[in-house]
Amino acid sequence: MKHYFRLGTTTPNATEARPVHGEAAPRIALPQPALSGGMPIMDAFSKRRTTRRFAETGLDDATLGQMLWAANGVNRKDPEGNDRRTAPSVLALHEIHVYVALARGMYRYDPLQHCLDLVIAADLRALTGYQDFVGEAPVELVYVADLARMQDIAPSQREPFAYASAGAIVQNVYLFCAAAGLAVAARSWLNRSTLGAEMRLSRDSVPVLAQSVGHFDTTDLQNAG
Ligand SMILES: Cc1cc2nc3c(=O)[nH]c(=O)nc-3n(C[C@H](O)[C@H](O)[C@H](O)COP(=O)(O)O)c2cc1C
Repeated sequence: MKHYFRLGTTTPNATEARPVHGEAAPRIALPQPALSGGMPIMDAFSKRRTTRRFAETGLDDATLGQMLWAANGVNRKDPEGNDRRTAPSVLALHEIHVYVALARGMYRYDPLQHCLDLVIAADLRALTGYQDFVGEAPVELVYVADLARMQDIAPSQREPFAYASAGAIVQNVYLFCAAAGLAVAARSWLNRSTLGAEMRLSRDSVPVLAQSVGHFDTTDLQNAG
């Protein structure tokens, strides 16, 4: 059986948040995403894969916004006029919040306003996991289940359903990255309680999965492309 500790450090990459350079913007308005176009879906399936080395260069806000829209953005209204998403969720509870750890701060994606709201004015990327590449990627996504939204679901099924919803978002991001030529790795190896505390999450909010995203490290010939 394979173990992820072969793929990186077995201790957390950092024990404390790094300061941001300059002032963290309280809100980042993301450019409106394109709702059509891009690579044909079958080509994106053909290219989807995990990469664990990243260039340092950050994503521009247009690419970041397009990726977050693909992840769990609003793509339509239902017959009652409610906003619906690119990813499915049980009873349309939308229980997964997408947190975005950047060098310029930890933000939360607001799909309705299509913007990022500052949560913590510090660089928390390296705290989001254990492996060497965690914190090197310019974007660390953290999928947080808001279990308080799941009162209509039997308690024993809340976390499994939340993981399923997060998995759908993870795959949306994988396919977007395949189409956009970006490097990406899903991650389950997190210290959920430490990370939850660092993110100052409420007791009902649980980090379930994470995902590193960035440009390919073109010096890494095995993974470039
Ligand atoms: C739920 C889930 C959790 C994962 N957790 C990790 C992880 O913690 N660290 C890691 O390096 N890769 C992780 N991966 C990526 C898998 O290792 C990867 O998908 C698998 O090796 C197949 O490779 P491929 O994605 O390139 O097809 C995870 C994938 C999934 C779906």
